[in-house]
Amino acid sequence: MKYAKIIGTGSYLPERIMTNADWEKIVETSDEWIFSRTGIKERHVAAENQTTSDMIVEASKKAIEDANIDKDDIDLIIVGTITPDNAYPSTANWVQKKLGIKPIPSFDIGAACSGFLYGLTVANSMIKSGVAKTVLVAGAETMTKALNWKDRNTCVLFGDGAGVAILTATENKNEGILSTYWGADGNLGNLLMQPAGGSAMPASKETVEKNLHTVHMSGNEVFKHAVLRMQEAAMKSLELAGFSGEDVDLFIPHQANLRIINATIKRAKIPLEKTFINIENTANISAGTIPIALDQARKQSRIKKGDIVLLAAFGAGFTWGGITIKF
Ligand code: ACO
Repeated sequence: MKYAKIIGTGSYLPERIMTNADWEKIVETSDEWIFSRTGIKERHVAAENQTTSDMIVEASKKAIEDANIDKDDIDLIIVGTITPDNAYPSTANWVQKKLGIKPIPSFDIGAACSGFLYGLTVANSMIKSGVAKTVLVAGAETMTKALNWKDRNTCVLFGDGAGVAILTATENKNEGILSTYWGADGNLGNLLMQPAGGSAMPASKETVEKNLHTVHMSGNEVFKHAVLRMQEAAMKSLELAGFSGEDVDLFIPHQANLRIINATIKRAKIPLEKTFINIENTANISAGTIPIALDQARKQSRIKKGDIVLLAAFGAGFTWGGITIKF
C-alpha cells in the first residue's frame, strides 16, 4: 500500500505591494475599515504581463529544489486556480511547457479557495492507487486581474501569488497525508461568482461594461457559511485521522478573514499560537493562500519532523476541505 507525503514546497509573491492606504486613493474605504473587518493591511499585485502560470513556475522551481528531485521525476501536474491564464488550455499545461517537463498528464481544478486542498486530495488518491508517483500540486491566483477595481465590497479583499507542494509515494502509513475531507454545495453557488465569460453569459460589450467578468460576492452570506464549513472541514479531517484540536502542532487555515479564522480555532480548540496567519500581508489569494502559507511556515521552521499539521479551506462553489498531515 502506498501513501502520499509532501517532500518539497515553494512559493512566489509578486514584487508590487499595495497597501490599504493605496486603496483609499481609489475607492471610498479606510485602513481602519479593512483591517478591523478582515485583518488585511496589504496585498501583492501581479505585474501587467505576469500570468498565473508565470508565478507557479517561480514557486515550482523552488519546490523542486526543496524536494531535491529532477523535474522529470514529476508524473502529474495539478493546478488549483479560478484565474487561469486562458479558458483553455489549462494553466497546468502552460506550467508543464514553461518548466520543460516531458508530456505528462496536467490539469486544473476550479474549486476557488479550496482549489489547493482539492488538488492535494486528488494527488493523494492518485499516489495511493499507483496512477502517479510524484505529483506537483499548485494553488495560484491573479485575483487582482479578476476584480472590479471600483467595487469596494470586493476589491480590497484579494491579492496575487502562487504556492506549490511536491508529493511523492511512501510505504510508511504513519507519515504524510493522514486524512482528507471535502465537500461542495452548488445550491449556494450564486452567492460568490464571476457571472460572465462562460456559456451562461458569453463575453459581450455589455458584460464588459457591467463589470460582469469580475468577482461578485454577497459578503455577509458568504461569511456565515464560511465560518460553519471551515469549522466542519477542520474538525472532520482531524476526526478521520483520529485526532482532536489539542493534537495539532500547526493549523494553516484559508486566509479570507481573520474573524473566520478566530471563530474556527475557537470551535476546534486550537490555540492561536499554533495557528499560522499571514492575511495581514497577503490578503485572500484564493487557491494560492494555503500553499503559500505552508511554504512560509516550513521556511520559518514552524513545522518540524513528526508535527501534525491541519489545513482547512472554504471558497466559492461553495467548496470546502480539510487535510491532516504528519510531517
Ligand atoms: N470600505 C468601507 N466600507 C465598506 C467596504 C470597504 N472596503 N466594503 C463594504 N463596505 C460597507 C458596505 O457598503 C456596507 O455598508 P452599508 O451597511 O451602508 O450598506 C458595510 O460596509 C458592510 O459592513 P459589514 O456588514 O460590517 O461587513 P462585514 O462584517 O460582512 O464584512 C466582509 C464584509 C469582509 C466582506 C465579510 O463579509 C467577509 O469576509 N465575507 C466572507 C469572505 C469569504 O470568506 N469569501 C470566501 C472565499 S473567496 C473565494 O472563494 C474566491
